[in-house]
Amino acid sequence: MKTSLHGLHRKLLIGAAALAALAPAWADKKAETDKALVERGRYLVQIAGCNDCHTAGYAERGGKVPEKDWLTGDAVGWRGPFGTTYPVNLRLYVEKMTEADWLKRVQTFETRPPMPWFNVRAMAERDQRALYHYLKAAGPAGKPAPAFLPPDKAPPQPYFQFPS
Ligand code: HEC
Repeated sequence: MKTSLHGLHRKLLIGAAALAALAPAWADKKAETDKALVERGRYLVQIAGCNDCHTAGYAERGGKVPEKDWLTGDAVGWRGPFGTTYPVNLRLYVEKMTEADWLKRVQTFETRPPMPWFNVRAMAERDQRALYHYLKAAGPAGKPAPAFLPPDKAPPQPYFQFPS
């Protein structure tokens, strides 16, 4: 009995040592995956148009906005029969979100116009994750965008007017 327990103990020790030896390789692989996801996210926010609305001046200046200011939201509202909406500051939006929170939100949300929630929901989960990793890597910046205004409230200038 004593010997077999001893043997088991030895096996466990060997197992633990093997795991410890593997750990750095696993950590490297994870860092690499995260880096790839961040890069993918960076690419997506450019080609999927997130910057066009969520980065002040981006569309008007042909994308010439420093990356440190990307996705910090916009105070120019979008007014229509639905009220006036403001592109949220996504850098602050994800600040307290886990990846699971983000995925749950973007896989089920339905916002007011002109946010193309249907495009984000149609993305592959890997791409939705990439957006999250990009936003997290960029870190919090800027201030929150103005709050939504109901249809009977006139927004301050400037704002975009939707045909009603
Ligand atoms: C045409 C402008 C426009 C584009 C393009 C756009 N957004 Fe938005 N987004 C908005 C507006 C406006 C809101 C606020 C909507 C509201 O108040 O209901 C918003 C809200 C959001 C929200 C918060 C939703 C919530 O209520 O929890 C997320 C997340 C978001 N956008 C992500 C993205 C991502 C990711 C992209 C790029 C794929 C993107 N948006 C592209 C305008 C835009």
